[in-house]
Amino acid sequence: MTLTVFDGLGDVPFYNEDIDTDADLPEAAARLRTAAERANAFLLVTPEYNGTMPAVLKNAIDWLSRPYQAGAMTDKPVAVVGTALGQYGGVWAHDEARKAAKIAGGSVLDAVTLDIPGSLNRFADNHPYTDIEVAERLTKVIDMLRAAA
Ligand SMILES: Cc1cc2nc3c(=O)[nH]c(=O)nc-3n(C[C@H](O)[C@H](O)[C@H](O)COP(=O)(O)O)c2cc1C
Repeated sequence: MTLTVFDGLGDVPFYNEDIDTDADLPEAAARLRTAAERANAFLLVTPEYNGTMPAVLKNAIDWLSRPYQAGAMTDKPVAVVGTALGQYGGVWAHDEARKAAKIAGGSVLDAVTLDIPGSLNRFADNHPYTDIEVAERLTKVIDMLRAAA
């Protein structure tokens, strides 16, 4: 299994049907769609902003939800994980992302969860990959995603 990080969500303009045309499609949105088309599964990793997912993630899901019923997420496994400052570890953001990804056509793995609270303290001095519990749980998430794919 190969994990590819899409490092460009912040460059994608807000979704607008008027520019979702062959002539006007923004280059960053096209790159996102191409990367998503190549993927067999999606691991969405997100913090929580004001009780939901950050707009940049919702925007990416919106772009991937079109063409309607033929977007690049259609029928592919999607898992959502992350960490946030609060005591629930971003569970609202993750639930909202699952809901949106499902409506966008993704085959969302609702039972696969990883919501790590207290991000600022827990990862103040350590990267998550050096945190044994996080590394083990994330490995299980990826195994489940691979099995679904
Ligand atoms: C605008 C904004 C809103 C946030 N809202 C929440 C929230 O509702 N719940 C929460 O647990 N954390 C919230 N946080 C904290 C983030 O989830 C996250 O832990 C923090 O921004 C650290 O991000 P980093 O891990 O990318 O450094 C918020 C942060 C920002 C900047």
